[in-house]
Amino acid sequence: MAAYSRLTIPDIQVKKGREKITALTAYDVLWARLLDEAGIDLILVGDSAAMLVLGYEDTIPITMEEMLVFAKAVSRGAKRALIVADMPFLSYQTSIEEAIRNAGRFLKEGGCQAVKIEGGKEVCDIIKAIVRAGIPVMAHIGLTPQRASSLGGFKVQGRDITSARKVLADAQAVAEAGAFAVVLECVPKELAARITSTLSIPTIGIGAGPSCDGQILVLPDLLGLFEGFRPRFVKRYANFAEEGRKAIQKFISEVKEGIFPGEEHSFNLSEEIRKALGL
Ligand code: KIV
Repeated sequence: MAAYSRLTIPDIQVKKGREKITALTAYDVLWARLLDEAGIDLILVGDSAAMLVLGYEDTIPITMEEMLVFAKAVSRGAKRALIVADMPFLSYQTSIEEAIRNAGRFLKEGGCQAVKIEGGKEVCDIIKAIVRAGIPVMAHIGLTPQRASSLGGFKVQGRDITSARKVLADAQAVAEAGAFAVVLECVPKELAARITSTLSIPTIGIGAGPSCDGQILVLPDLLGLFEGFRPRFVKRYANFAEEGRKAIQKFISEVKEGIFPGEEHSFNLSEEIRKALGL
C-alpha cells in the first residue's frame, strides 16, 4: 500500500497501550538484517558499541565518526525497523548548534531515522532544539551510562524519595520537550509503571519492569555473546560465546588433523587440464 515500508515514529507511538514495542541494539549489517527479518520494531545503534565492539572500558571515548560507521552498517542491513542512533558523549552538550549538526549527521550520513540522548531536565533545551530542527529524539533517563560516574556507578535510580521524584520529573520534562519515546534504564518497576501510565509517549524499559510500553536489551547480552558482568535485568536467550568457542576449537583441531577442508570444500581441475599439466 504505502511506498514507505519502514516503521515510522507514529507507527511506534501508536503501539502504546495496544501492543508491546520490541527493541534491540545492533552495530553491524549482519545482525541488523537478522533483527529486521525477525520483526524487531526498533534498532538502537547504541553507544554500548564503545565497550562491546571497540573494547573501551565505558561509553565515554566513542566518537561521532565511530558511531557513524556503525549507524551506516546497520542502516544498510535493516530496511523495516526504525533505526535510532545514540548520540555519543560530548556530541550534544557543547552547544545547541553542535547538537543539531551531529544529530543531523545520523540522518543524512548514517541513514537513521532518530537519535537518542541521555539525560532528563538538564538536556531538555537540547531535545527541544533538535526536535525543532526536524530530527526525532528518543530520551533516556534513570541510569544514564554516560553519567555513571556522577551517579555513583551502574546503580538502580529512583530508589529513595529524592531520586524517585527526580526520575518522575525527568520523564515529564523530556516528554514535554518533544521526545517521541523515552528509555527508562534501571528504575524500580513501580516507578516505571507510574511513568508509563502518566506519559502519552511510549516508555521503553531496560531493567524497568514489565509495565513499560516496550522493552530493549543489548543484543550481545541477549545472545550470551558478552560474558563480562551480567546485570539482573538481562535475560540470556542463547549462549553464543560458548557455541562460538566450541566452533573455533573444532576448526583448529580439524585443520591440524587434516579433516578440513574436505573434498566438498575444494575446487577441481577438469581432467583435460590435469592431463595437460601432468597432475
Ligand atoms: O547504548 C546502549 O546500548 C543503550 C541501551 C542500554 C539502551 O543505551
